[in-house]
Amino acid sequence: MSADLRLEIQQIVVSFGSDKTRMMDILIAVQHRYGEVSSRAIELIAAALHAHKVEIEETASFYAFFDRMPRGRNRIRLSKTPVSFMKGAQAVAQAFETALGVGFGETTADGLFTLQWTSDIGLADQEPSALVNGVALSELTPADVPAILAALRTPAPSDALPAYPPGRAEAAALPKSSIRSSLVKAGPLLSNPPSGPAGLLAALALTPDAVIEQITLSKLRGRGGAGFPTGMKWRLTRKSKGSEHYIACNADEGEPGTFKDRLLLTDFPDLVFDGMTIAGYALGGREGLLYLRGEYAYLWDSLQGALSERRRKGLLGPSIGGKSGFDFDIRIQLGAGAYICGEESSLLESLEGKRGSPRDRPPFPTERGYLGQPTAIDNVETLVCAARVLEKGAAWFTSLGTTSSSGTKLMCVSGDCARPGVYETPFGATINELLDEVGATDAQYVQFSGPSGQAVAPKDFGRRIAYEDLATGGSTMIFGPQRDVLATALQFTEFFVDESCGWCAPCRIGTTLLKQAMEKVVAGKATLSDIASTEALADTVVRMSRCGLGQSAPNPILTTMKSFPELYEARLSKAAFEPVLALETALREAMEVQGRASVVEAV
Ligand SMILES: Cc1cc2nc3c(=O)[nH]c(=O)nc-3n(C[C@H](O)[C@H](O)[C@H](O)COP(=O)(O)O)c2cc1C
Ligand code: SF4
Repeated sequence: MSADLRLEIQQIVVSFGSDKTRMMDILIAVQHRYGEVSSRAIELIAAALHAHKVEIEETASFYAFFDRMPRGRNRIRLSKTPVSFMKGAQAVAQAFETALGVGFGETTADGLFTLQWTSDIGLADQEPSALVNGVALSELTPADVPAILAALRTPAPSDALPAYPPGRAEAAALPKSSIRSSLVKAGPLLSNPPSGPAGLLAALALTPDAVIEQITLSKLRGRGGAGFPTGMKWRLTRKSKGSEHYIACNADEGEPGTFKDRLLLTDFPDLVFDGMTIAGYALGGREGLLYLRGEYAYLWDSLQGALSERRRKGLLGPSIGGKSGFDFDIRIQLGAGAYICGEESSLLESLEGKRGSPRDRPPFPTERGYLGQPTAIDNVETLVCAARVLEKGAAWFTSLGTTSSSGTKLMCVSGDCARPGVYETPFGATINELLDEVGATDAQYVQFSGPSGQAVAPKDFGRRIAYEDLATGGSTMIFGPQRDVLATALQFTEFFVDESCGWCAPCRIGTTLLKQAMEKVVAGKATLSDIASTEALADTVVRMSRCGLGQSAPNPILTTMKSFPELYEARLSKAAFEPVLALETALREAMEVQGRASVVEAV
């Protein structure tokens, strides 16, 4: 064991306070210092933390962004989604393969490059996209590939691995790294944002209970998808007993087709941090945690810059806004590539440095969350809404939208349409209205609220975007008439196979069986009885899975079966239509014996 390695790892562990709950940070640092989390590194981390190596191994083996073997110096991760494929990801992939002489999942012989596919990276409006050493590149074409590879070869490779999280310099060195703003249409929430912390200052003029009352009166509901009333969540958290109370901002945004939280963190970070600080005040908390998905590591520098600026202005730290006794700060926790960590209890596990397996509930996070203390977990958009509610008043918010769905919704539109991007849409608008706005004239269907949502056929385009009709986290993927609905359902099912945490059998095994069943359907080899058994299996996975991932994993299949039964029927194996039992033949002998006319003819 090299003394250098021991020393360096000890230093990394010490730099995170020798705190086991900072395991994600320790492993991220090790991964990017050595290009892998080796078995030796795991032993050394365990020794430095006085923990068993199994504990470290458990976390290290869970996340897609930790490698247990060395890979290439430069990591090219291309986004693999139905939308990226419709926009030409396959051709970009081929250009990389041809230029490097290796396939996806492989590393070049000189150890310079590894090619990998990855799940949606939050750029569905700008596909094909990729993460190159953590830097996001968008709207790629095969013609971009030589320049990207040349930039990665310059300067001449040294032992030092690329910086992580990547900074502005790393991004500037790569072509196609200037991502355009996704905001196409701002409404009341995002138009005319305040120049200062107006919402926070308004909150500090109230008591914490009055702040919660304002949020309750606004009828704000969680924008992460489930729509839980935010005022109630904050009240439950505040009244739960604990030595600390936490606010955790869920910026995991892993649902394919969603990218509004990236937009908010990029273009409106102060509104997000105002919302977190308001929540911290309302809950009686001293620390806020922003859980930032690993795919958004390139936002690290700008977000840390915004936090530093807030500390300088007295908007974070002791006695915020001159309010003595209100001390609050925010820490950003990077994830490492796991969709399940968007599920709130898995997010808590990850925040505590563990693998992202969902927790049993109750107790709910409002009672026992981060480090066993009461924790409110809110989506990024929810917190932005909270900041504006405090600034403009609950009545302003309820004047927007419908009776049961106040405010507006950020819709992330991608796929077959003229103008993809984020549209701030009033609750109550129909899908038809949204399709008109984005220039989708001939949608065959809309995958609404992502793969875990539903496939909505044109007959339902008159339905409303609202909690009381079509609830959504925002993902809106449009598929034109030229797209293969069933092949797309298969791709979404594969996504769930890849992202299942593996904890429970119905999801771990069920999603794989569903994928196999769907492969048979797409290949035209399924019979009517296969379809029936697939539906029954899907139903079992929904009912028996432990958490929301497994419970919604069959949705791409179930909802396309419901919306497009004729497509499944048309793809059935021809053999299915050749009756095993031909009535005429079966009855012939009996008819001859009895001397009766053909029953079939008689009918
Ligand atoms: C598999 C799975 C993934 C999820 N991913 C996210 C996510 O990326 N962002 C998010 O805000 N909520 C996500 N959720 C919902 C969260 O569990 C939780 O309901 C939400 O963060 C609460 O915030 P809200 O009340 O502001 O919506 C996910 C849920 C499941 C089951
Ligand atoms: S349903 Fe899937 S993701 Fe959820 S606990 Fe079970 S295996 Fe894990």
